[in-house]
Amino acid sequence: MSRSPAAVDPPTGWRVLVTGGSGFIGRHVVSSLREAGHQVIVADLNDFPDPAVQTVTGDLCEPRVREDAVTSEIGAIVHLAAATSVLGSIEQPAHVHRTNVEMTAALLELARQRGVDTFVLASTNAVVGNVGHAAITEDLPLAPLTPYGGTKAAAEMLLCGYAGAYALRTPAVRLTNVYGRGMVHKDSFVPRLLRAAAGGGQVQIYGDGEQRRDLVHVGDAARAIVSAVHDWPSGPVIIGGARSYSVNEIAQAARDATGLPIEAVRVAAKPGEMPAVVVDITRARSRGYAPSVTLVDGMRDAWADFDPSPTMQGRDDARV
Ligand SMILES: NC(=O)c1ccc[n+]([C@@H]2O[C@H](COP(=O)([O-])OP(=O)(O)OC[C@H]3O[C@@H](n4cnc5c(N)ncnc54)[C@H](O)[C@@H]3O)[C@@H](O)[C@H]2O)c1
Repeated sequence: MSRSPAAVDPPTGWRVLVTGGSGFIGRHVVSSLREAGHQVIVADLNDFPDPAVQTVTGDLCEPRVREDAVTSEIGAIVHLAAATSVLGSIEQPAHVHRTNVEMTAALLELARQRGVDTFVLASTNAVVGNVGHAAITEDLPLAPLTPYGGTKAAAEMLLCGYAGAYALRTPAVRLTNVYGRGMVHKDSFVPRLLRAAAGGGQVQIYGDGEQRRDLVHVGDAARAIVSAVHDWPSGPVIIGGARSYSVNEIAQAARDATGLPIEAVRVAAKPGEMPAVVVDITRARSRGYAPSVTLVDGMRDAWADFDPSPTMQGRDDARV
């Protein structure tokens, strides 16, 4: 196995551990890594759906599970396993700290002990908090507004320390809102819209719906993560769709993609609701990243999992 982080052609044949590989983004990352010729091992609370993929099933907060997952044959770790609910983190901050900070610290330490030289973290733009309508860059100070954002900021700092002291290569991929196939278990705005479309229900829109959001398709996010595994240097990189849409526009894109009239109900804006998430992906572009999926195409792709029409029932390719 080659372990060189710098290569002209993309490397192939590494053993890559994907924590959280059975989750929404993880399944796409596993597919993309395998397509790139890597051998993938998943570590997750849940089994991976394809038995051909080696899986360590269990809680990575437990030392035994981590020891089984991080062997000395592993060349790179993609760390996706996390407590991902922002609201959940406000209700249970200690749980999210244990999962997102302590677990990350323990995995990093095992990576150091076992000679793993690449550790990619799935982070978030929530590490910078509310910057009004300004474009978010990697240079803004860390100022998260929730325990979830705080734990991701802490995890980024842990990576930074291991990069400095032990020369681990530790890119932190700060994702915007990820959407696409495989998100039926999620509770973000896109699956809410698509559930409303499927069930003829309503969707709540906070305030006037003019707050802007950046969405990135899961295929683009997975490609960025694979590139980060291959040769991105340590430090944060923002990955988004490169265009922000108002919440009203996102709802309209869901109507266009589904052909269904999704009723929107306006409710009072939540305190702390960000007026805008506008990201600057210059750094990602300089590393070869370019978003490739339009909002309506991505919405159609996500809809395949929710569409109750008989032609979509039982379609294997509607799931990752
Ligand atoms: N989905 C988004 O829009 C988004 C945006 C920014 C960052 N992220 C980050 O990307 C990563 C993946 O997110 P996702 O949307 O795929 O979430 P997900 O909930 O679908 O997947 C997370 C996976 O981690 C596993 N996991 C959680 N705790 C674990 C533990 N203690 N031990 C073992 N496995 C555990 C879960 O079983 C699940 O399969 C997370 O780190 C999340 O914070 C996601």
